[in-house]
Amino acid sequence: MINNNLHDNKQAKVDNNLQIKNFSIEQIRADFPLLSRQVNNIPLIYLDSAASAQKPQVVIDSEMNFYRKYYAAVNRGIHTLGEKATEAMEHVRCQVADFIHAKTEQEIVFVKGATEGINLVANSYGDHFLNTGDSIIITEMEHHANIVPWQILAKKRGLIIKIWHLTTSGELDLNDLSKLIDHHTHLLAITHISNVLGTINPIHDIVMKAKALAKDLVVLVDGAQAVMHQQVDVQALDCDFYVFSGHKLYGPTGIGILYGKNKLLQMMPPWESGGSMIKTVSLTEETTFADAPVRFEAGSPNTAAIIGMGAAINYINQLGLTRIQHYEQSLMTYALKKLKQVPNFKLYGSEKNRAGVIAFNLGQHHSYDVGIFLDKYGIAIRTGQHCAIPLMKFYNVSTMCRVSLALYNTYEEINQLVTALQSIECLLN
Ligand code: ALA
Repeated sequence: MINNNLHDNKQAKVDNNLQIKNFSIEQIRADFPLLSRQVNNIPLIYLDSAASAQKPQVVIDSEMNFYRKYYAAVNRGIHTLGEKATEAMEHVRCQVADFIHAKTEQEIVFVKGATEGINLVANSYGDHFLNTGDSIIITEMEHHANIVPWQILAKKRGLIIKIWHLTTSGELDLNDLSKLIDHHTHLLAITHISNVLGTINPIHDIVMKAKALAKDLVVLVDGAQAVMHQQVDVQALDCDFYVFSGHKLYGPTGIGILYGKNKLLQMMPPWESGGSMIKTVSLTEETTFADAPVRFEAGSPNTAAIIGMGAAINYINQLGLTRIQHYEQSLMTYALKKLKQVPNFKLYGSEKNRAGVIAFNLGQHHSYDVGIFLDKYGIAIRTGQHCAIPLMKFYNVSTMCRVSLALYNTYEEINQLVTALQSIECLLN
């Protein structure tokens, strides 16, 4: 169904808008080969896309085509294959810039994933521009990846970490920012959408307010759970950095994006060094570095994954993020309504402004018990602490169950989840 022409993205977007009038879930599911498999002799119901999304055939094919037809090292040889591979990689950089509305592709750095993007900013920007006594704000709903790098940096540089706590309804209150930000505050690191609660933070308002309170404050947004659910416009958000991973975006693992405003990236020193990221190297004089983004891309990149991510973005663009968002929102509203009918279902987080992520517990049952039972029904959910121990503490629980929805899930799957949870309730009691 989906055209995988790396060089025809914009045209494909236009053509497809004309062709796909309805969101055909059957056609979409047919694009994802893994969805047709069985688990425990039951058709798989995959409700763990916030951990990692399944891949459409076009993504799998794009990586295979690269290895079969034009594989070579990028940015090195001037031979045909090397040129073609480099061109394909740089095309994806442009696609990504377009996808998140960056001003220029120079603002797009290829990294391993959102985690590496945050570590890059902490180790380059943070280590260079933050000084003893400066403060960084993080929120109580962050993934560990947006907590730990700042803690390590704070220890190294003598920084203060301030916590933006949640209200009793599990949300962030914008009014609290004025209590947290003072003239020592240099950076705010915040998730766009909580990986546990699905809460969509009002990033635009947050950035505006934060920058009104401290004009030089830098905002890093963790968009790992956002880019696959809604259109992101980094220029409209006016954030300084934005990170996300390919594998949650229906693309390959091992690839992610750091967006940074060009002005900031050009000021930042490299954090890893080696080939590619230099201008000149001398054994006797000072080595000079390439401009961003290449300055941050030492060594041979994960080219196949970059190409796969380009195919994933192409796929999403062809379906249209607005259409995806509407479908997922409708599915999520349905899922919440049905799940609340399950005895002892305890929902976490606000029901307002929520992407397709539902965290819950069932009475006193441990999430692992629930997860193991669901697996017997062929249903995959995530259980445990969700890389968010501070959030578990906030809710005074050791673990939670989490259902996360994607563009390929169906109302029927929700019905089956609910039926399974109801029978688990009977079996475990
Ligand atoms: N960060 C991923 C999750 O929330 C792994 O499941």
